[in-house]
Amino acid sequence: MRPIRIALTKGRLEKDTVGLFQKLEYDCSELLNKGRKLILSVPDANLEVVLAKAADVITYVEHGVCDLGVVGKDTIMEYGGSFFEVTDLGFGKCQFALAGEKGKDFYEGYSVKTIATKYPNVTRRFFEGKGMDIEIVKIEGSVELAPLLKLSNAIVDIVETGSTLKENGLEVFEYVAPISARMIVNTASVKLRKQEIESFVEKIESVL
Ligand code: PRP
Repeated sequence: MRPIRIALTKGRLEKDTVGLFQKLEYDCSELLNKGRKLILSVPDANLEVVLAKAADVITYVEHGVCDLGVVGKDTIMEYGGSFFEVTDLGFGKCQFALAGEKGKDFYEGYSVKTIATKYPNVTRRFFEGKGMDIEIVKIEGSVELAPLLKLSNAIVDIVETGSTLKENGLEVFEYVAPISARMIVNTASVKLRKQEIESFVEKIESVL
């Protein structure tokens, strides 16, 4: 049978997941010396690791070409999809927050506010929940620039330590949702490879 295939979000979530594999004393030599290789093997765990961008982790798991995935709750909230979210891995912790210029009253006045964000769906839902009409401007990175350049009244973005906001004269107005890394599973794999997947997830949970 082919190995269980897991897609990891490249970067920090990948490193933290490899840390869990090391705690389980899996042979991580390929993962630790990967060079530019994108599919890596953990031979003693009959596991194949695929390295991908966050949103692509969801795509590969949804399509069943990967059985499992490790992806941030931020990406899950923004892109959704049909898969099971089985475990909160507890790392990659941060918050979605509404933020803007320090000392400003975001809710002041009646004009429609403009929000800059990499996460338009999360932002839309947040303000729908408040029954508040807003305009969204999609930004690809360093979203903090938008209120500084007066393109927007505020941002909805990820805040981890808060230092990016602080060093740019911005502050959190309101927290939107907590974020951490999640393990997701393909809906067919859960049934077809139930035992293997359950036992793998249990092992991971035992070292969290
Ligand atoms: C993220 C996020 C904030 C920053 C928050 O950006 O979009 O800009 O980290 O972290 P902090 O609260 O610890 O300062 P990232 O570094 O991923 O870069 P990007 O904005 O270009 O996506």
